[in-house]
Amino acid sequence: MHIVHTIAELRQALSTAAQPAFVPTMGNLHRGHLSLLKQASTLGDCTVASIFVNRLQFLPHEDFDSYPRTWRADCDALESVHCDILFAPREHDLYPEPQRYKVMADPVLASKLEGSFRPGFFDGVCTVVLKLFNAVFAGKPKGFAVFGKKDYQQLKVIEAMTKQFALPIDILAGETARDHDGLALSSRNGYLRAQERLKAAALYKHLLALSQAYQTLSGDQPVAAWCLAAEHDATRRLSELGWQVDYVSVRRRVDLEPPIDSQGQPIAKDSLLVLAAAKLGQTRLIDNLEF
Ligand code: PAJ
Repeated sequence: MHIVHTIAELRQALSTAAQPAFVPTMGNLHRGHLSLLKQASTLGDCTVASIFVNRLQFLPHEDFDSYPRTWRADCDALESVHCDILFAPREHDLYPEPQRYKVMADPVLASKLEGSFRPGFFDGVCTVVLKLFNAVFAGKPKGFAVFGKKDYQQLKVIEAMTKQFALPIDILAGETARDHDGLALSSRNGYLRAQERLKAAALYKHLLALSQAYQTLSGDQPVAAWCLAAEHDATRRLSELGWQVDYVSVRRRVDLEPPIDSQGQPIAKDSLLVLAAAKLGQTRLIDNLEF
């Protein structure tokens, strides 16, 4: 694996690649990240991973300084999936001067759910992803980038940005990798204390229960009202187990808007998902499930 730090080195390393396949990350890699890289390796002619903990997407009180940085293990993990190039810019490589030009994510898509609890988060994500895309894909006729469904709203925001800026990049979605008990793998799971880790899969289990209950809904029941009741029920149960719930919300996959019952237009059975964010102790976890 070729390890590069500057954009110039990256472009040099990519000079013979026509269609790079790219997976941006913030490091502390786990099986979920690696599954995206395996998917990427089936797409282009050169697989690129990036590791960069992006200050712009952290709020002042968030964990930028303590975010886990595990360089050696990450390099070994990327070698194990035969990643061709690792782009690991230092802060001054990507932000040699304060980044004053920024991408403002579509407020309709980006201000709800995660955006309402982490204002500015998606602007920070879009700004760094556009910059990383420019570093990897400039001058290439076509490319691929893989993002995890684990961060479903982020995936949607990036898809929309790529489309609106007419970037010649196909965005692909990777399935969520989970631990044995269903907990979605996340770099932030390492913050959980042993007792909290035992409880952490409850988030996924409540999303699963909600999605299974939805399957038993009969055709003439109003979906929107059922969803609201189911969200409240899951929120109450999680709260009783000691979680501080930010949201449990059933949305349309296409635009993350709430499901609406319109006359004579049944909601397609495979068009929804439920998204959730909740804190266990000091650790904030997010998850979602399509149904
Ligand atoms: P990070 O949290 O490191 O995630 C990098 C990629 O891995 C994202 O596309 C994310 O959705 C995916 N991912 C995380 N957990 C996963 C899991 N359990 N299964 C499958 N995929 C998973 O997301 C970011 O970094 C940053 O916001 C970034 C896009 C790199 C911009 O800074």
